[in-house]
Amino acid sequence: MNRTITSTNRELDLKHVWHANTQHRSLASRPPLEVVSAEGCYVFDTEGRRYLDGMAGLFCVNVGYGRREIVDAVAAQMAELAYYPLTQSHGPAAQLAARLAGLLPEGLNRVFFTNSGSEAVETALKMARQCSRQNHPGENRYKIIARRRGYHGFTMGALAATGQTTRRAAFEPLPQGFFHVAPPDHYRCAFCAEKSACSLACADEIERLIRMEGPETVAAVIAEPAIGSGGVFPAPEGYLERLREICDRYGVLLILDEVITGFGRTGKLFGLEHSGIRPDIITFAKGITSAYLPLGATVANERVFEAFQGEAEGSKFVNVSTFGGHPSSCAAALANIDILTRERLWENAAAVGAWLMEQLRGIHCNAIGEVRGLGLLIGIELVTDDRKTPMPDAQMLRLLREFRDAGVLVGRNVESAPGFCNVLLLSPPLILDHEQAGIIVATVADVLNRCC
Ligand SMILES: Cc1ncc(COP(=O)(O)O)c(C=O)c1O
Repeated sequence: MNRTITSTNRELDLKHVWHANTQHRSLASRPPLEVVSAEGCYVFDTEGRRYLDGMAGLFCVNVGYGRREIVDAVAAQMAELAYYPLTQSHGPAAQLAARLAGLLPEGLNRVFFTNSGSEAVETALKMARQCSRQNHPGENRYKIIARRRGYHGFTMGALAATGQTTRRAAFEPLPQGFFHVAPPDHYRCAFCAEKSACSLACADEIERLIRMEGPETVAAVIAEPAIGSGGVFPAPEGYLERLREICDRYGVLLILDEVITGFGRTGKLFGLEHSGIRPDIITFAKGITSAYLPLGATVANERVFEAFQGEAEGSKFVNVSTFGGHPSSCAAALANIDILTRERLWENAAAVGAWLMEQLRGIHCNAIGEVRGLGLLIGIELVTDDRKTPMPDAQMLRLLREFRDAGVLVGRNVESAPGFCNVLLLSPPLILDHEQAGIIVATVADVLNRCC
């Protein structure tokens, strides 16, 4: 049927689109930003108004908008082979898997493709449980240990790993066997907030938990190298190394969720490079294609992969995704990684990110409790007094509106802990230059000084 569309997109949207994390009651008076085009670090709305995208979409457009090279690679791939499943094989997936293996530390060689970060995590959790059971036949290793405030995705398993109670409550009961410990939040740490540096007591909590639960019941620890959307908590020095030691001591797998930190965001190509460790499993999405197309990837080391090579048919990994590793998405990822590595964008993220953080720390405003981050992943924790009372929700929402009106899009941690949705988030494209970083600083100073 050839339907003539007479309504505006806004009307159609308000009538039919169910938006993510949005209370629709308020949408008619405050409709979502309708973005029609984008270039570099900027997006444009229906009136042609330009906004500096301080969030790179949702932490994902790492190489910036409008990269013709990716568009051309995808168009050529679609024309040649629009689709084929990875129950068989195709060139783009083979080439991308080899490319990832070549960029990652030695041994991280086996890539299972999905469509999103949640699915990459879901796959990692399933991989860890099946691998642990097959490697330890006399035991029942199924428990997963994660951190409070960490985010791992919206599907039921990934949500069970997510340490954000307000995101989970409506959907409980979630899959069983998920445990959470304190994150490395030095600003509010129960162990070491009064000390000058992190004591790693929060990492040691993981060891205590493994011993209490019984190591023979624990499959894996999952952690973001820097907690991202939960409020930006980079792993302090020595933290990931401590996690690796603990996991090795008890035969527990270590999963690093690099859905945000992968592909340059933190000032290194991968977040794990801030430590010297090698995880057993890594998850990627977002920056793997800079969001030009959906793609997730779960990369395992050879030891994990070997666990699935038993004689019994049932020892194979029983997991399939129709669209996972779509040829066009793999072509987008290859072109995206070409750009990232040719332009060494993680170096720009490190340099501009360090400058940006220093400037933000220099802003005199009592509402700023802490500015923290790594590369171009930065959080500004806002408080209302010197007892670190978190800025309330209504005020945070007002600030976001002010930023949007000022032409700079920033985020905030939503639902990460009851009463603690008070961290402004910055995660711009990795091509951000000093002038654009300066615009962000000036806007943060102006908005906070006017409204707090
Ligand atoms: C660390 C981390 N893991 C997993 C996910 C889920 O990714 P997706 O939204 O692509 O399902 C996210 C999304 O923000 C994330 O930040």
